[in-house]
Amino acid sequence: MVAEPDPEEFKIHPQKAQELGYTYNQEPPPPEVCQFCGRLLYHYGAVMPGQRHVFTWFDEAERCDCAGAHEYWRQQDEAQKAAKEAEARRKEQERIAQRMRKLLDDSGMGGRFQTRTFERFVVDDENRRAFRAAKRYADSFSLMLPARDEAGRVRPPKKERNGLFISGTKGTGKTHLAAAIANQLIQGGTPVICMTMIDLLSKIKATFDRGGGASEADILRIYKDVPLLIIDDMGTEQPTDWGLSKIYTIINARYEAYMPTIVTTNYSGEELIRRMTPPNDDGYTAAKTIDRLQEMCGGIEMSWKSWRLR
Ligand SMILES: Nc1ncnc2c1ncn2[C@@H]1O[C@H](COP(=O)(O)OP(=O)(O)OP(=O)(O)O)[C@@H](O)[C@H]1O
Ligand SMILES: [Mg+2]
Ligand SMILES: [Zn+2]
Repeated sequence: MVAEPDPEEFKIHPQKAQELGYTYNQEPPPPEVCQFCGRLLYHYGAVMPGQRHVFTWFDEAERCDCAGAHEYWRQQDEAQKAAKEAEARRKEQERIAQRMRKLLDDSGMGGRFQTRTFERFVVDDENRRAFRAAKRYADSFSLMLPARDEAGRVRPPKKERNGLFISGTKGTGKTHLAAAIANQLIQGGTPVICMTMIDLLSKIKATFDRGGGASEADILRIYKDVPLLIIDDMGTEQPTDWGLSKIYTIINARYEAYMPTIVTTNYSGEELIRRMTPPNDDGYTAAKTIDRLQEMCGGIEMSWKSWRLR
């Protein structure tokens, strides 16, 4: 262990410096007078051990140790400490706010999604079950994430079906509840991506069109690694071969890593497989994709009169 240097070795009283014949470039500032006891307070000089030279004189005079000065410095130090702590808190809050802004920017949650919260969801007899299931999901999200053992291997999450498959007729609040989960988690600092399947694919396509295979791999990795991925409106538009293969890649990667995924869709079962099958395709990949999802997700059914028609 290296001993802490003694700070006394690095400073010297101006009278002692004079007595010992230290050299210096500037005269020491005149001493000040303690406002409490009247003692002279000197500006010490900065020195290096073994060198008889004063580099500079300290701007602040030495502190007096009389009772009055003692109390004065105690208050000064306390005030300075409080100011430092307030500044650190302000910085921390700014950092959190910035992280939240970034999480929201990255989430794909456009302005409309951001207003869809649990608070704004009107609960009635038809949608109560769905609401509670979604709220419970958001509240216990930590149970949905896989764990790692001491060797760093991924272990299944506490909740085996750690995703949600929200299906039902149009306008019943499926997207609203999925977005409410996203908003709550983002508020808690958890990164979430929430996008329609088509937007998700065009985002991959955009990096693809810009060229450079690395960027497509990068964005796919983000979709695989984000703690919660929400794919809104699955099956509304028929994917191409390419699109379906990307969706399968993402869902399969999340399946293998036990990562939670939420899907909203107007379809289920065979019909969803049909809607997800690209033109002139045997439907095998679509079936595999939906199969995986069904294994990963608990179901929420939301079929009633559209809220948009109220
Ligand atoms: N219970 C509710 N309380 C308040 N607003 C609701 C409720 N249900 C739906 N809405 C609102 O109705 C509109 C339609 O809901 P949403 O987009 O969630 O439906 P959806 O089930 O996703 O429909 P689609 O199948 O067409 O995608 C949204 O503006 C949503 O905020
Ligand atoms: Mg929707
Ligand atoms: Zn004093």
